[in-house]
Amino acid sequence: MGLKIIILAAGQGTRMKSDLPKVLHPLGGLPMIGHVVRVAFALEPAQVCVVLPPEDQRITSTLKQLFPQQPLTFATQDKPLGTGHAVQSALHVLDDISGDDILILCGDTPVLDTQTLAFMIQEKAQAHDEAPWLYSMNVSHDNAYGRIKVDHEGRGLGIVEAACTTEEERNITLCNTGVMLVPGYLLKSFLMQMKPSASGEFYLTDLISFCAHQDQKAHILIGPQENFCGINTRVELAQAENHLQTRWRTHMMEAGVTLMDPASVYFSYDTIIGKDSVIYPHVYFGTQVILGERVTIRPFSMLMGATLDSDTRVGPCAHLRPGAHLKEGARVGNFVEVKNTVMEAGAHADHLTYLGDSHLGKNAAIGAGTITCNYNGFKKFPTHIGAEAFIGSNTTLVAPVKIGDGAIVAAGSVVTHDVAPDALVFARAKQTQLQGYGKKFKEKAKT
Ligand code: UD1
Ligand code: CA
Repeated sequence: MGLKIIILAAGQGTRMKSDLPKVLHPLGGLPMIGHVVRVAFALEPAQVCVVLPPEDQRITSTLKQLFPQQPLTFATQDKPLGTGHAVQSALHVLDDISGDDILILCGDTPVLDTQTLAFMIQEKAQAHDEAPWLYSMNVSHDNAYGRIKVDHEGRGLGIVEAACTTEEERNITLCNTGVMLVPGYLLKSFLMQMKPSASGEFYLTDLISFCAHQDQKAHILIGPQENFCGINTRVELAQAENHLQTRWRTHMMEAGVTLMDPASVYFSYDTIIGKDSVIYPHVYFGTQVILGERVTIRPFSMLMGATLDSDTRVGPCAHLRPGAHLKEGARVGNFVEVKNTVMEAGAHADHLTYLGDSHLGKNAAIGAGTITCNYNGFKKFPTHIGAEAFIGSNTTLVAPVKIGDGAIVAAGSVVTHDVAPDALVFARAKQTQLQGYGKKFKEKAKT
C-alpha cells in the first residue's frame, strides 16, 4: 500500500483581501504552499497532487520553480465548490488510489511538521481497522474551524462546519485541522455519493459521518494548535509566521547558536547557522543565508543570499546582499553594504562602505566611506582589490578597476585607473595653503 498526498489550494482566499493567491503569501521567505509541499515530500509519498484554481498560472509556476526535481502533479478544480469537490478533482490526475492511503492537507495550513504527520501514518499502519485518521486540535475561543463530534470512546461521528453549528455545537472545543489520512477505496466511495451542503458546497468533512455510518468511525489524534493553524486572514498569516519563527529560533538554540534576544531575530525557512555563532538582537535573515561556526552578527543587520565562513563578524547595522561571501575571519562593520562580493580571509571593511561586484584579496583593508562605483546607470562593472591592499578613507573606486596586491590608496582618492602592486597612489587635488589668507578673508567679509 502506497502513500499519496493531495494538497488543496483552489479556494478563493477572499478573506485575505489580496490580489495575490492566498497560498502564495510568504512565510519565512517561502510561499505558504511551499511549506506544505516540503513537508509532503519529506514523507516520501508515491505522488503529490496540488489542486489549483483554473487559469491562474502563478501557483503552478512558483511550485515548479521551487520543486523542479520532485514528482509534483497539478489538478484543476474548475469552480471552488468545496473541499470535497477539490479532492474529487485530484482523482482525475492521480493514478488509481484504491489500494493507497491518501493524506489530505490544506495549502493554507503551512505550520505542519513532518514528525507529527509521520506519527499519524505510523499509527494507521499499526491499527487493526481501516477507518480514517483525523488530526484535531483543541481551540478554546470562538473560532471558524469545523467542530468534531465523537462517541464515548473518542472516535469520530462527524464534523459540523462552524457556519452550520447550533449554539451547543459551537461550544465544542475539539476542532478539525483539515489533515486526514483515508484509505483510497473509502475516499472514492465517499466522493461518489457526497451531497452538497445547504450553501451548495461539497464538504470533505462529511467523510467522517459517512465513515461512521459504514462502521468505520475515524480515529482522532490531537495535535498542538500552533502546528495546524489555518490561514484565512492576514491576522492569521502573522500568527502562523510567529509560530514558525518560534520553532526555528528553538531549533537554532538547540543546535548551539546563541540568540541574545530570540524574539527579535527573524529567520527564513532555509537559514543555516553553525554552532557557537552569536546573533545579537534585531537581525533579519532573508533566504539563502549560510553561516559557519563562531560567526557574530551584531544588532540591526540584514542578510540575504550571503555566505559567511567561520569566525567572520558582521554589523552592527550591516546589509549583506546576494552573492556576499565573507571568508574566514573577514569583517564587515557598521553601515556597510556588500553585494556580489568575495572578501578573502581577513579582509575587512569596518565602517560606512559599499562593496558591489568586487573581489577583495586576503587581509585587504577598506577605510571608512569607501565606495565601489560598480554601475554607470546601464551596466555593472567589477572591482578587484589585491591582498594586503589598503584603501584610505573616503575613496571612490570607479569600476572596472584593479588595485594591486599590497598597494596603498590615499584617503579621499577617486581611482579611475588600475593601481600597480605595492604602489602608493594619490588621486585627489593637491592641497594649497595660502598663509594668512583666512584672517584676511574674514576681515574683508566683515566690511
Ligand atoms: C476547512 C474545513 C474545516 C477545518 C479547517 C481547518 C471543510 C469544509 N472545512 O475550513 O473543518 O476546521 O479547514 O483549517 O473542509 N479549497 C479548495 N477548493 C474549494 C474550497 C477550498 O481547494 O472549493 C481549499 C482551500 O484553498 C484551502 C482548503 O481547501 O486550502 C480549505 O478551504 P477553506 O475555505 O480555507 O476552508 P475552512 O473554512 O478554513
Ligand atoms: Ca482555511
